[in-house]
Amino acid sequence: MQTTKTLRLDKALCDMGYGTRSEVKKMITQGRVKIDGTTVRSSDQKVDLTASVLSVDGAEVFYNMYEYRMLNKPAGVISATEDPRQKTVLDLVKGSGVRKNLAPVGRLDIDTEGLLLLTNDGTLAHQMLSPKKHVPKTYFVRLDGSVGSEVIRGMEAGMQIDDADGSFTALPAQIQTTDLDTEAYITIYEGKYHQVKRMFAAFGLTVKYLKRMTMGSLALDASLAPGESRLLTSEEINRLKAEVNHEHF
Ligand code: URA
Repeated sequence: MQTTKTLRLDKALCDMGYGTRSEVKKMITQGRVKIDGTTVRSSDQKVDLTASVLSVDGAEVFYNMYEYRMLNKPAGVISATEDPRQKTVLDLVKGSGVRKNLAPVGRLDIDTEGLLLLTNDGTLAHQMLSPKKHVPKTYFVRLDGSVGSEVIRGMEAGMQIDDADGSFTALPAQIQTTDLDTEAYITIYEGKYHQVKRMFAAFGLTVKYLKRMTMGSLALDASLAPGESRLLTSEEINRLKAEVNHEHF
């Protein structure tokens, strides 16, 4: 369901990543922007985005009030919106047709890869990160040693972490082993700082490679190469919203 959404032309284009306000104004005066097939040259023209077709250089502009995008985060970028020195996850996606005010839902370490949800829906982000919701997150992990039965039993029982970064009690996790004893999938229900690395470190194991595979019902699309992103389908969005609106998973 969509209600009427009327915006100034320059704001609509700016919101959807077509450039800064002044860049967008220039595009409009250059005659590159049309509303319902008619060139519009004034930036303060109002456009009803639910009833009109807006285009730039002949390509339709799809205005999303809320955008939900999954990114396959590569190693080497930080989970922030902007940074003066390092490349951020937003640098990987921004551009024409991508909502300007996206933010990552939680953080992955700079060397962690995999599923990162980007959205401007602050309510969903807040709910997914709420410690009360216990949203499960599954990671693939490669270690410098074997995941033996002691590690599995310890993690599945819940464990106390006391290390240089502080103390916390990790809720019982689930471990799924693979054919290689140095690899596993771990599912955790909270998101403490460096949590997976710290849980394995408590057993003397160093995480060599970490990749998030799922967050709640959302699974990383295997067709996305590191650095690539795609919009969530409406089914994926609705499933996520339904699950976080419940008190318990
Ligand atoms: N746990 C970690 O240690 N690092 C991450 O990036 C995510 C979970």
